[in-house]
Amino acid sequence: MITLALSKGRIFDETLPMLAAAGIEVTEDPEKSRKLILGTNQPDVRVVLVRPSDVPTYVQWGGADIGVTGLDTMIEHGNAGLYLPLDLKIAGCRMSVAARADFDYAHAVRQGSRLKIATKFVGIARDFFAIKGVHVDLIKLYGSMELAPLTGLADAIVDIVSTGNTLRANNLVEVEHIMEISARLVVNQAALKLKREPIRRIIDAFASAVATKP
Ligand code: PRP
Repeated sequence: MITLALSKGRIFDETLPMLAAAGIEVTEDPEKSRKLILGTNQPDVRVVLVRPSDVPTYVQWGGADIGVTGLDTMIEHGNAGLYLPLDLKIAGCRMSVAARADFDYAHAVRQGSRLKIATKFVGIARDFFAIKGVHVDLIKLYGSMELAPLTGLADAIVDIVSTGNTLRANNLVEVEHIMEISARLVVNQAALKLKREPIRRIIDAFASAVATKP
């Protein structure tokens, strides 16, 4: 049995065509049921639905053999015991620093001020500001980061930006670009040894789907 960990939403929707390229069709719609294990047209392949940040954990500890998750999640989790063979070039977005339009971020950085940064991505934020030599107090949040500069909780946030609509709706502006993010294929290294042939087949099919993507 090959178990594939996916999260509902964009990753799930954009992974389906790649699975189809590997001859795998998910036979249930995750939006229409509360089931967490979905069958496929292949009796030895199943999909488990987990939170995006839990995908690397499932794959690392063998709850799944393969997973798809964002580069941001992988960096935060660390890749011990994991093999990341492919950038799937789906679910693209960017990681940025954003602040209120009336906050002079560049000036604060130049002055060497100690900045309060709210984020879910503490590892990425810590590394980014350490390399810049900016002193920061990191405030860990689990969502709705945009609220932090509006309420005085933080000077700025480190968050994912896709369309930019959420920032605009909350009068925030991007002040620094940290990195481009896309979804990665993540594979359990031990599973790759034990189930080499079927896992290789899936990796290769995903690789050709990426290569022929318009
Ligand atoms: C992410 C991110 C922003 C939003 C950006 O949140 O944290 O809030 O998407 O997208 P946009 O630029 O297209 O507006 P998500 O909806 O994934 O929920 P989260 O707060 O649980 O991370």
